[in-house]
Amino acid sequence: MILIKLGGSIITNKNKPLTPNRNSIRKIATNLKNVNEPLVIVHGGGSFGHYWSVKYDMHTKPRRHEAKGVSYVKNSMVELNNIVLESFLESGLKPYCLPPSDFMTSDKPLIKKVKEIPKIAKTGLTPISYGDVMWFGKNKFYILSGDRIMGILSKILRPRLAIFVTNVDGVYSDMKSRRLLSEITEEKPITSEVSMDVTGGMARKIKEAFNISKIGTDVFFVNGNVPKRIINAINDKSFEGTVFRG
Ligand code: IPE
Repeated sequence: MILIKLGGSIITNKNKPLTPNRNSIRKIATNLKNVNEPLVIVHGGGSFGHYWSVKYDMHTKPRRHEAKGVSYVKNSMVELNNIVLESFLESGLKPYCLPPSDFMTSDKPLIKKVKEIPKIAKTGLTPISYGDVMWFGKNKFYILSGDRIMGILSKILRPRLAIFVTNVDGVYSDMKSRRLLSEITEEKPITSEVSMDVTGGMARKIKEAFNISKIGTDVFFVNGNVPKRIINAINDKSFEGTVFRG
């Protein structure tokens, strides 16, 4: 099974609120149609969920958030998920809507439910989950990112590969020289320069990627504007991007 995160930066236009990038979604789906291995997809919020979570100052830490903000974030993620589901269906895949509340309660995974996901994927369906606002308990809510879902699912399901698809080529050594790091291992770890230079979003992805690679799964970062690179990562062929070796 292969776990793929479609970042908000590639499936939406991050500079324009509530604007999907239908072209990218369609191109990626069309390419994934040719993969002969069960796939599980997670997508981010981009200019949908993130737009509202920023507007209502909502974070990953559980808090008593404004009810209206919770509604806006949740509604926008359902809308974006629907756009992804329809695009996958039109591209010949059989998407299976999987909100994170189906397999998590509070901030904990429901192990039995999580273990059903690869079984569903084996039937030919493609489960598609997404970052969302979640009920934490005690009148608190929190933002669960798609990146965190990648970490949670990887730990329990141990996919053959985990792939983060974004709109950049991979992880850069620093933003000035824009030197792409092709491989990151424990012997050749990322320098502090990198972690300081990346944006909060990328730093969180790198942290999840490290944790996933530590359990023995290779983690790839690829540019979704060239969907062939996702396929090359899956087939271990002339790969372009960054790999965290598991
Ligand atoms: C979005 O998940 C969560 C919400 C704001 C609802 P991510 O944090 O994984 O989204 P991207 O990929 O960075 O846009």
